[in-house]
Amino acid sequence: MSSKKICCRLAILVFLATAFSSFAQTPQRDAPFRGQPVRSSLADPAIEQKVNALLKQMTLEEKVGQLVQYSVGTATGPGTGRTGYSEMIAGGQVGALFNVENVQQVNRFQHDAVEKSRLHIPLLIGLDVIHGYRTTMPVPLALASTWDPPIVERAARIAAQEASADGVRWTFSPMVDITRDPRWGRIIEGAGEDPYLGSAMARAYVRGYQGKSLAAADSIAACPKHYVGYGAAEAGRDYNTTEISEHTLREFYFPPFYAALDEGSATIMSAFNTLNGVPASANAFTLTQILRKEWRFPGLVDSDWTSLGELVAHGIANDGKTAAEKAINAGVDMDMESNLYHEHLAELVKSGKVSQGTLDEAVRRALRVKFALGLFEKPYTDESRKNNGALPAESLEIARTAAQRSLVLLKNDQVTGHSVLPLGQGLQKVALIGPLADDAGNMAGSWAGRAEQGDAITLKASLTQKLGAANVKYAKGGDIKNATDAQITEAVAAANDADVVILALGEDAGTMTGEAGSRAHLDLPGRQQELLEKVAATGKPTVLILFSGRPLILPWAFQHVPAVLVAWFPGVQAGPALVNTLFGETPPTGKLVVSWPHAMGQIPLYYNALSTGRPAPKTALTNVPLNGEDKYVSRYVDEQNGPQFPFGYGLTYTQFSFTKPDISAAHLSARKLNEELRKSAGSGKTALTVTASVTNTGKVAAEEVVQLYVGLRGTSVEEPVRALKAFQRVPLAAGETKKVTFDLGSEAFAFWNIQNELEIEPSKANIWVSPDSASGEAVEFEIGE
Ligand code: BGC
Repeated sequence: MSSKKICCRLAILVFLATAFSSFAQTPQRDAPFRGQPVRSSLADPAIEQKVNALLKQMTLEEKVGQLVQYSVGTATGPGTGRTGYSEMIAGGQVGALFNVENVQQVNRFQHDAVEKSRLHIPLLIGLDVIHGYRTTMPVPLALASTWDPPIVERAARIAAQEASADGVRWTFSPMVDITRDPRWGRIIEGAGEDPYLGSAMARAYVRGYQGKSLAAADSIAACPKHYVGYGAAEAGRDYNTTEISEHTLREFYFPPFYAALDEGSATIMSAFNTLNGVPASANAFTLTQILRKEWRFPGLVDSDWTSLGELVAHGIANDGKTAAEKAINAGVDMDMESNLYHEHLAELVKSGKVSQGTLDEAVRRALRVKFALGLFEKPYTDESRKNNGALPAESLEIARTAAQRSLVLLKNDQVTGHSVLPLGQGLQKVALIGPLADDAGNMAGSWAGRAEQGDAITLKASLTQKLGAANVKYAKGGDIKNATDAQITEAVAAANDADVVILALGEDAGTMTGEAGSRAHLDLPGRQQELLEKVAATGKPTVLILFSGRPLILPWAFQHVPAVLVAWFPGVQAGPALVNTLFGETPPTGKLVVSWPHAMGQIPLYYNALSTGRPAPKTALTNVPLNGEDKYVSRYVDEQNGPQFPFGYGLTYTQFSFTKPDISAAHLSARKLNEELRKSAGSGKTALTVTASVTNTGKVAAEEVVQLYVGLRGTSVEEPVRALKAFQRVPLAAGETKKVTFDLGSEAFAFWNIQNELEIEPSKANIWVSPDSASGEAVEFEIGE
């Protein structure tokens, strides 16, 4: 296809994409000053009346029952081996179930609760619906890489519709843990290292899951997790200890939780990790002081899986009874799987170790969620709602669009005068090599929801469809974790025989990513590095597609392979999304939401770091010359400081230029900004308008994620050299220039000061409008008294 035709097709697609996604600025009310309550969907006087009336009728045992949650099919409680729950439910001893098999089983259990139990209280039915239910969307790290909250909201909406049709009314999602360490397997489940982007994503998920009203039959309650600090597990080892100052909690780790709750999330999950010496599932500071007293969250705190029982392993309780006492008194309402509330809570209340008021309040929170979901009126799920057929076109379109927008192009060098990507339409012979080229199972990533076999389309299937089987020479080149010499030889032969090589390499989602999927070596597993080097040695133009749940440390690849595209785990539409992108029908527009390290020793590595005393860099990750004259600077003697690719980075098939930003005022008053912050945080009042011109200087249309960063100097506590405060996806035709405008509210200049109060202080401010976190020219201005 001629470049003109591609150009025209791209223009149409970009237009469609524009119509599809909204380019509104994301909400900014994610750093609450103290005492500013979240806008909860549960704060409803009508619900409160019903809750109180019901509570009055409940016995102690029935109250405890509302706080007990079991996973169906899992033997629960040390030594109990219990898996059947009907009798317990009928006796009012169970409040919630999860991992229920299907809608029929949901309705049967619901029948036990509603028809047989004395007070007819329905069950809350949950599941880990993480990135889709039947329609598997890209993994959350990929969804975040879209920088497109509206598409994430749509993906979550589809998940809610499908899950609720199967009787699931509660999902343990979104995971909003900030993480700066790609060794941690669960980095795949979150939105990366930035609290602003993380908050925007958190809100999008909650809106999508909970819909316009929780009471609608197709809404499901959200559960942001894991509160809090779990993503900071020391050395990236899952479940490990965390140590995070109050300032850092408030500035980096709390905001996405606040955002999710302020968007109306009905529940939240307490984490496994020890935080500043106290396990998060018994941490009164985070669960009561912050969550209840400051944010005034009226919803349910669910413990993570057996995290109450694990208080004994942590060493803050010597038996299960004490663990239960510590957990409920700290603020955990519901016991997931530990069986400790069932065993001990009634006795703890009778003996006065847990007050009647504490118990009642926990029960109120559970009941509020059930009333808000409309479960008392409609406990059963209409079994005819479930789609047992093929996935509908609309869901597939969202899955495909989300996948396309999540792909991050890291490198696209010229080979013989042309960038390797997009591939020419007239391409004759392609060698498709690698263990992930035709691996439908892995496309789902970790947490596959209720994906069905045969739904996912692989790269091989789509490429073959596009080019015809005769033009695609496929050689697996081995498995993810191993390969034979013969497989590698076969792959090299296929490469030698082709015009272009596509290599599909990466991780095994099930064993190397997600929960308990931490890795100490972020390389290509098995013999894939060897395969890569031998194939690259053929000298054929090569595209490396990385399937992974995290950045992989591959300096060799970034030096020697001309084109590298990160696919993450793209979900059910992996093949079509990749082929559309490889051939230029939809240019890649994803951007990194985590800094991509150059070497293991740099981890933890994150863009929004504080400046050291030596040197004071322009960005915290600026490279310092290894052999610079001054030895006594913050650097490694054997590695640069900067990442391989910075946060916010991603190429496409065109180039963009940015002007230095203009600002609407050269001087702002801290006093006035503070007044505004307290009066109207989030109401959208503009404190400063920032504009920059962005030009598409290349030959094809594409979207650019235009990012705005703020840096403050001269403040009472050190602030990040630059921190993301706004972003917009902007479509630009070839040659087009657009003035991009950001209306910043006072929150953009607020931070947690030395008294741990959210304030705007007199300072020197810098603003960048740039394509990533490491480039752009700043405009400086003064925030005076
Ligand atoms: C995970 C949670 C999950 C829960 C229920 C735990 O092991 O940490 O993220 O929601 O299990 O399946």
